[in-house]
Amino acid sequence: MSKLKGAIIGLGFISGKGQFPAYQKRDDVEIVAIADHAPGRLTAAGLAAPNARLYSDWRELLEKEQLDFVDISTPPNVHAEITLAALAKGVHVLCEKPLATSVAEAMSMVEGARKHERVVFPGHNYKHAPVVKFSRDVMNGGRIGKVRAVTLNTFRTTHAKGVTEWRTDWRRDKKTSGGGIAMDHGSHSFYLTFAWMQSLPTHVTAKTLTLDSQWDTEDNLNCVLTFPNGFAHCFLTWTAGVRKVVYSLQGSDGAVVIDDDKWELTQGKGSKPVVENGIIESDWMDASHTKWHNSMFDQFKVAIAEKDFVNRELRESVACVQIIETCYRSSAEGCRELPLTIDVTKI
Ligand SMILES: NC(=O)c1ccc[n+]([C@@H]2O[C@H](COP(=O)([O-])OP(=O)(O)OC[C@H]3O[C@@H](n4cnc5c(N)ncnc54)[C@H](O)[C@@H]3O)[C@@H](O)[C@H]2O)c1
Repeated sequence: MSKLKGAIIGLGFISGKGQFPAYQKRDDVEIVAIADHAPGRLTAAGLAAPNARLYSDWRELLEKEQLDFVDISTPPNVHAEITLAALAKGVHVLCEKPLATSVAEAMSMVEGARKHERVVFPGHNYKHAPVVKFSRDVMNGGRIGKVRAVTLNTFRTTHAKGVTEWRTDWRRDKKTSGGGIAMDHGSHSFYLTFAWMQSLPTHVTAKTLTLDSQWDTEDNLNCVLTFPNGFAHCFLTWTAGVRKVVYSLQGSDGAVVIDDDKWELTQGKGSKPVVENGIIESDWMDASHTKWHNSMFDQFKVAIAEKDFVNRELRESVACVQIIETCYRSSAEGCRELPLTIDVTKI
């Protein structure tokens, strides 16, 4: 089997603990090069990947290497610039979320994928958590009727930290992150709502808060997305007392509630609903989510094989960036309901 030759740009927490170990276990991928501008991370790269060529400048890596794909795992402020440069070299791109820090940047990445006929694919890995896959199977099997509301609570006791060899608190610096928890984690909640509501939202109402005021990015987001067929409520916090996710899908004839690995399925709304519950190990506490990477990478490979350059996942990532941008505007305008004006199915 011929291997896909890949490079990692930004060997920090997620690619060091998540992607790279997952690639090492695959027999269809070879990581031939790694770029990171932090000397300490290049040292770590040399130890983890002794056969890979190392670069302190990603531009030099793109200039010198013959690649099938790059895995971009830097902070979001440089996702668009690196993606456009990789596409211009004829290289497919797997890019961490959020795809970009603005809709304008995200749209330039879509145009780049189309122009250079290369895939851009976002790292929407929460779809690949085993318990999330279970909820989708329950829903698609018609076991809870039509889903008309979903709630997504994401509790974190602190902002996610980057590696210590670089700037561990970059998520709290707007110039680097583009925003706080909405920018950092919003995508995960939003693309799950698309799958569960089986449509895209049309309007957003949001409120952000910065409880820890030493930083210039928000640590709490509360928002409602309006869909043609119902509502989604997303609450994300970095100031919680416990780390967990609690999701619910409310259907016309039952519900699924997920509490980390635990699930409860209720069927029937009459006097005798049938309730089942169980546990599906999904490794929520492992923030690298390395076990979810494989099935996402398989999808990326399918998009490459099918020349699906502007693929559904990419469109959804643009929708996420649009929602994030609109959340900030809604909050700034007194939580006003705002329309989502770009129809991502037409981009
Ligand atoms: N999908 C998920 O579950 C998940 C989880 C964590 C992080 N992420 C995403 O992954 C990305 C990285 O997050 P992280 O937590 O790994 O951060 P991190 O700080 O641990 O890693 C980022 C790395 O990129 C390097 N870097 C920064 N700018 C660079 C540049 N211009 N050129 C070369 N190298 C550069 C840093 O030196 C660092 O090693 C972010 O987009 C984040 O949102 C996704």
